[in-house]
Amino acid sequence: MGKLGVVTLLLSFLIVTMAALGGSQPEDWHKSVVRVEKEEEKVTELHFYFHDTVSGKQPSAVRVAQAMESEKSPTLFGVVMMADDPLTEGPEPTSKVVGRAQGLYGSAGQEEFGLIMAMNYGFTDSIYNGSSLCILGRNSALHPIREMPIVGGTGLFQRARGIAVGQTYWFDETTGDAIVEYNVTAFHY
Ligand SMILES: *[C@@H]1O[C@H](CO)[C@@H](O)[C@H](O)[C@H]1NC(C)=O
Ligand SMILES: *[C@@H]1O[C@H](CO)[C@@H](O)[C@H](O)[C@H]1NC(C)=O
Repeated sequence: MGKLGVVTLLLSFLIVTMAALGGSQPEDWHKSVVRVEKEEEKVTELHFYFHDTVSGKQPSAVRVAQAMESEKSPTLFGVVMMADDPLTEGPEPTSKVVGRAQGLYGSAGQEEFGLIMAMNYGFTDSIYNGSSLCILGRNSALHPIREMPIVGGTGLFQRARGIAVGQTYWFDETTGDAIVEYNVTAFHY
């Protein structure tokens, strides 16, 4: 094939390619491909204590919003708290900190006291340093044991789902301060 032949071939190839591209949307903002799961799913169990301090000079949870009616509500309906609560290995406040639960919880029940939790449990210890779990769901805080859904995670907990079981370990009725024992079961990759 002569030089001209090669050039003609390349040109026609280019034209065909450009025509094909012209038919698609080069600026598409979405793309999906079939993903075949290669990694095996893992299950991780965590056990820690959550320290929620609302009283004193240095509370770990503060009231950030409420409705006019909240003060009159027996369930404090409408009160929203922002928390940065330490998570520790043992129940004592001086026990080793393994992470922090940061986010919002608010009183979402009118008839029965119940919280809606939207919190990030970020871990800072061992191989889980930098990994987090996201909890979103109802917490019937006055029940001895309650379940909260794990809806996602980051780091080693990527694509996590599972359940967090909370049990009040200690509660001061006067101040509202609490220590909650957690058993978490997370399924992730
Ligand atoms: C966790 O990671 C941070 C940032 O990478 C680092 O500063 C810190 O020392 C680590 N903590 C532990 C306990 O490994
Ligand atoms: C967590 O698991 C331990 C060991 O199985 C158990 O003794 C404890 O009662 C559980 N606590 C909660 C809050 O489920």
